[in-house]
Amino acid sequence: MKRILVTGAGGQIGSWLVPRLRELYGDANVLATDVRHLGSDFTEAGPFQVLDATHPKAVGQAVMRHDADTIYHLAAILSAIGERDPRLAWHINMTSLEAVLEVAREQGSAVFTPSSIGVFGPDTPKDPTPQDTVMRPTTMYGITKVAGELLCDYYHTRFGVDTRGLRFPGLISYGAPPGGGTTDWAVEIFYGALEEGRYTCFLAPEAQLDMMYMPDAIEALIGIMEADPDRLVHRNAFNVTAMQLSPRILAEEIRKHVPDFTIDYEIDPVRQAIAESWPDRLDDSAARTEWGWSPRYDMAAMTADMFAHMGGD
Ligand code: SER
Repeated sequence: MKRILVTGAGGQIGSWLVPRLRELYGDANVLATDVRHLGSDFTEAGPFQVLDATHPKAVGQAVMRHDADTIYHLAAILSAIGERDPRLAWHINMTSLEAVLEVAREQGSAVFTPSSIGVFGPDTPKDPTPQDTVMRPTTMYGITKVAGELLCDYYHTRFGVDTRGLRFPGLISYGAPPGGGTTDWAVEIFYGALEEGRYTCFLAPEAQLDMMYMPDAIEALIGIMEADPDRLVHRNAFNVTAMQLSPRILAEEIRKHVPDFTIDYEIDPVRQAIAESWPDRLDDSAARTEWGWSPRYDMAAMTADMFAHMGGD
């Protein structure tokens, strides 16, 4: 049975991933960690520890004490916050990843690190965006993610650490909110629709980005770490996507559930520029071929499920 440590357990991904890992591998085998204390949902269902992942010693002790053979390193600063405080984004994203990789090298643990559509930049082919292509991101978040991908590949080829990663698109979920990204509108829009029947969007109506519903993202996180290493040509990191959404298109779908829903626009130039620098459609065929990636939710299925769980339909 795997022994797993998760950093950033209280975040948008972690709050979904930890319960699923506990279901699969046993409550006691999954140590949830976060820089903050989390609610009892987390701390009572299995082991929990406050952990600042930028402190190598603390990460080392936690991995050793839990005897973790796998680390899901989710703690990170996202794109919009990263533009507000680029030095903080560099510090948190790079220092914590380096700490995790060093501990993994010493302890022989496997490491999952999420990468992002944010690794791509204005020179990248947009539709489709190939697995291997020009990157050159223009955000600090993207720079840390490209550096992170390279560092993870380096630890694999140089030291034999089993590093794996996914380039996630915008992730849509209810529950813990996303932590300050450019794709947050695709979550906020559901709360706006249910609570007020309206939403003011910070991106333009036609700003198209790749998206994925969280249950698919969780299956991808587990699927990549369970994949047969002999089949993996790529490691850090695979393009994965499930749907391409613009605010206008998702608003139309939401109107099927909330007929009077209205959307208006107050465009934030920083986040609009970030969205314009990112792909319109990822080519995720490498993930499909190398480890069988296949999403279950398209826009209609995701929207219906979101409303069902948020108490709308
Ligand atoms: N959702 C992230 C962001 O918008 C992209 O990986 O920053």
